[in-house]
Amino acid sequence: MSGDGVKGGEAAEGVPLVDLAAAHAEVEAEVRAGFDRVLASGGFVKGPEVAGFEREYAAFAGARHCVGAGNGTDALELALRALDLPPGGGVVLPANTFVATAEAVLRAGLRPVLVDADPAHLLMDPERAAAALGGAVALLPVHLFGQLAPMGPLLEAADGRPVVEDAAQSQGARQHGRTGYGRIAATSFYPGKNLGAYGDAGAVLTDDDELADAVRLTGDHGARDKYRHERFGCNSRMDALQAVVLRAKLRRLPAWNAARRAAAARYDTLLGGLDGLTLPRTAPGNEHVWHLYAVRIGPGRDRDAVLAALHAAGIGAGVHYPVPVHLQPAFRHLGHRAGSFPVAERAARELLSLPLHPHLTGAQQERVARVLARALHARR
Ligand SMILES: Cc1ncc(COP(=O)(O)O)c(C=O)c1O
Repeated sequence: MSGDGVKGGEAAEGVPLVDLAAAHAEVEAEVRAGFDRVLASGGFVKGPEVAGFEREYAAFAGARHCVGAGNGTDALELALRALDLPPGGGVVLPANTFVATAEAVLRAGLRPVLVDADPAHLLMDPERAAAALGGAVALLPVHLFGQLAPMGPLLEAADGRPVVEDAAQSQGARQHGRTGYGRIAATSFYPGKNLGAYGDAGAVLTDDDELADAVRLTGDHGARDKYRHERFGCNSRMDALQAVVLRAKLRRLPAWNAARRAAAARYDTLLGGLDGLTLPRTAPGNEHVWHLYAVRIGPGRDRDAVLAALHAAGIGAGVHYPVPVHLQPAFRHLGHRAGSFPVAERAARELLSLPLHPHLTGAQQERVARVLARALHARR
């Protein structure tokens, strides 16, 4: 494809989907000093760095409690287990999410009940959620791509059942000025997230003292005191080295999220009006944190050809996610098939995530827009 019509020199300058090295350069001095502290202390699991991060992230997220976990999938499972829901109970979650949301439900001994998304924003649709609720015991909306699902209507739809928020992609996002709405939320600090560790980490957020206590206990072998196991637990705790990274990055997160918003606005201007492209929309009342800037290609265009053209030009675009949960072989037993969730299936065919991170430059975005426009035009 020889650069797909890219002008001389352009193909050499890649535009990565995320730029973790640029983020590291900002925090490097603090991280190295923190690592030295932890290495000298010999305390690698939990400890004062983790407690400090939990305090700071709780304040940032506007929650009474933040409990560190090994990763975001575990954090979701711990949140669900803390609720002590009836075994095998149904949990309503979107078909268009990362597979971890469904995994956590199954691992918590519960049953995933999938629902389709609202076609405009691809967030959980309260009407569809209410229709699917039946005998379900909880609702699990996902704050996809960096904006909150419509929490007011979803809480109403839940009709008193606990709402657990998958906030893996929405660190710092607000809706009508608030960050959280449900009984309990879980987030992921996977390296590419808005707040990313240098390995796996996650956390549970809640205002409820008892739930926070249950999460902390469950993730630490169910033990408050060593070798006295009150709850059936597991091992999912935050490492001190990850907490060092997260504390340093958390100080920059408001500025980084603002930079993401500015970059998203720049894409809106650069890409607005391009034929064959639908831009992502912010739902009413939302302050988006743009974990991903996911455009839609089509209809009548070949998303994968556009993706290939971007890759050929060194542009790190991605697809989140190419296969919805119900069509994953691992979830075949849920009994769905192609056509079960048409909005999620169409999104899987059309979505394309463009590079978006706090260190993206205007020149890089202009280059992405140029290559994307050519790729769309070439495949009319
Ligand atoms: C929506 C969603 N839920 C859950 C997770 C799971 O987080 P982790 O990868 O930290 O286990 C992720 C991220 O990977 C995610 O994007």
